[in-house]
Amino acid sequence: MSKQHTLLMPLDMHLHLRDGVMLETVAPLTSYTFSGALIMPNLVPPVTSKDAVIAYKERVMAAVGVEAADPELDLVNSDYFEPYMTLFYQNYDKEFLEDVADEITSLKLYPAGITTNSEGGVSSFDLDTMRPTLQAMSDLEIPLCVHGETDGFVMDREAEFMSIYELLASNFPDLKIIMEHITTKVAVDMLDEYPNLYATITLHHLLITLDDVAGGMLKPHLFCKPIAKRPEDREALLKVALDGHPKVMFGSDSAPHPQHKKESCGCAAGVFTAPIALQSLCELFDSHGKLDNLQSFVSDNAQRIYGICPEFKEIVLSDEPFTVPEKYGNVVPMYAGETIGWSIESVE
Ligand code: NCD
Ligand code: ZN
Repeated sequence: MSKQHTLLMPLDMHLHLRDGVMLETVAPLTSYTFSGALIMPNLVPPVTSKDAVIAYKERVMAAVGVEAADPELDLVNSDYFEPYMTLFYQNYDKEFLEDVADEITSLKLYPAGITTNSEGGVSSFDLDTMRPTLQAMSDLEIPLCVHGETDGFVMDREAEFMSIYELLASNFPDLKIIMEHITTKVAVDMLDEYPNLYATITLHHLLITLDDVAGGMLKPHLFCKPIAKRPEDREALLKVALDGHPKVMFGSDSAPHPQHKKESCGCAAGVFTAPIALQSLCELFDSHGKLDNLQSFVSDNAQRIYGICPEFKEIVLSDEPFTVPEKYGNVVPMYAGETIGWSIESVE
């Protein structure tokens, strides 16, 4: 008898869907098993206007292949998928934020140039310059999602950013701040220091360390920002994820790049995990005897933290093996060609 596990309304609170043909390739892979996802705005050019948010959401919905559900109808639809849109952080005025608030779930802040398509991000964390935007976000209850890395030594970038999180969290105590894709023990410890700090954790940072990326033959498909860290960092991430810590959410940071951009002398940063995420998470939580906490990590915490209420979707997984395809379109997923212990059995 195979073992089964049911997840309700899974949410991926950090997802790169890109645009054009790539969007059409990857969006259905997430919408098949997730009720919704927080869609990152680092397109070229980045999503910085209300019109751009609306137009991108329409392209996402078209790629998913379904119309947005009518909230009046109380629709139950296994194809249903909600793209929770984000705006690329710049210093905006309050009128603009008031006008765009209904179309977005958060703003995403990138330090300028720190990762893929982030050149238009913040180049100086000067509170006086940022205050009007951050105060308006706080007043309007729009959360701030942050790619927390300095431009220091690559292994220290996240730890060095902690003082900026402290500055933001203490100056804007009513602003919800999400430390995106945390990779270090210091970031885990920071969670309990400020009531308004939250975090997402990826699948890959729960599974790998820098050794897996560069300890043997270089593995370009495991190269991402922030770079995977030390075993003790992964242990700290695992502990809060497996415990279903109430301030921690799953955010895959699934970041597809065409194969030639990964297998090249200048490897683009990003791990593509969307099609393997729930299966791998089940395998991981099961191997630690913590399957009962997976629901909090992949949905309940995000619903509470963001105040969102996704449409009903029920995913049944079983511990039947799943061999990961070598490619989806021209994108190579994590664990391509390898076998994961759990698979999707049904989606309703
Ligand atoms: C992301 C991408 O490719 O857009 N890359 C990554 O390595 N995670 C950007 C990001 O989230 O840093
Ligand atoms: Zn990302």
